[in-house]
Amino acid sequence: MRPIARIRDAAGPGVPHQHGPTDDAASATRAADTTPAARQRNAVVCLRAASVRVGGRALWSDVNLDIAPGEFVAVLGPNGVGKSTLVKAILGLIPITGGDVTVLGHKPGHLAHLVGYLPQRRSFDASLPIRGVDIVRLGWDGDRWGLPRPGAARAARKAIDEAIELVGASAYAHRPIGQCSGGEQQRLLIAQALVRRPRLLLLDEPLDSLDLPNQAAVAALIGRICAEEGASVMMVAHDANPILPHLHRVVYLAEDGAVAGTPGEVITSETLTRLYRTTIEVLHTSDGRLMVVGQPEPAAVHTDRHSVAGQQGAGHADH
Ligand SMILES: Nc1ncnc2c1ncn2[C@@H]1O[C@H](COP(=O)(O)OP(=O)(O)O)[C@@H](O)[C@H]1O
Ligand SMILES: [Mg+2]
Repeated sequence: MRPIARIRDAAGPGVPHQHGPTDDAASATRAADTTPAARQRNAVVCLRAASVRVGGRALWSDVNLDIAPGEFVAVLGPNGVGKSTLVKAILGLIPITGGDVTVLGHKPGHLAHLVGYLPQRRSFDASLPIRGVDIVRLGWDGDRWGLPRPGAARAARKAIDEAIELVGASAYAHRPIGQCSGGEQQRLLIAQALVRRPRLLLLDEPLDSLDLPNQAAVAALIGRICAEEGASVMMVAHDANPILPHLHRVVYLAEDGAVAGTPGEVITSETLTRLYRTTIEVLHTSDGRLMVVGQPEPAAVHTDRHSVAGQQGAGHADH
């Protein structure tokens, strides 16, 4: 794969959003002042001319992106292009090799307690005896050692219950996680990432392995979290369509280059055809929605039954 060329913010900061939920509740949580300087000042994530090399190879370079409070941003693009690497750079797990990245005004990794992370590809063996509520608890105290402080147990229970309720998982949170369906597991894992009420939620392909109704339901849940919690969400996705109605901005990574901006600006037949080097059509539905047709490598869609892979991905409290 050739190194990625330049990634730029096609919109340029400050251009009004033209699509999705931008005119309703979610937009109210974002800063009213959308001048370039204000966007940068208020940014939850700010990348300036950022570049990364892995294994001696340039993956992407010159990335410029601001994510405002309450924004739902998708990272889209084919496999292997560096989407997960972008998330890890924002987490501070992988150093950038050029430019600048700040998270809530600090170096990546410095405010880890304010960042929730759902890593790519998690599945639970059906025989795993851990309950959903235990998975959520790992997000609360997975990295807290030593004697608990007075009142800590009550605070933990309250936070865990609230996160489970927020994702609508109360009915099955006490079942063994391996016996929950794929969609139920995903909601519980999102609750784990949410339990500390982060200001930034990084979700790496949370919709893969879900069937279409569950993709839509989880996408709507994430949109609601942005609107109601004011959290910013960066979600890696393979297929834009399930999340398009909820998105404020997108970053499209591709071998030849990448573009960031609002969906209306970036998701055009011309831009996607150029990025993917194959014909991609963007349709405008009668109710004003966008739909991408001909996107290569569509997301794997399985029925919403138990994930059976042997990998026991329980407890990603490493954020
Ligand atoms: N630590 C690493 N060392 C070497 N190569 C890596 C490392 N991490 C990722 N890569 C490579 O970088 C490329 C991008 O990986 P990734 O960010 O996981 O892509 P995506 O999430 O878009 O599928 C892949 O070719 C992958 O093999
Ligand atoms: Mg990935």
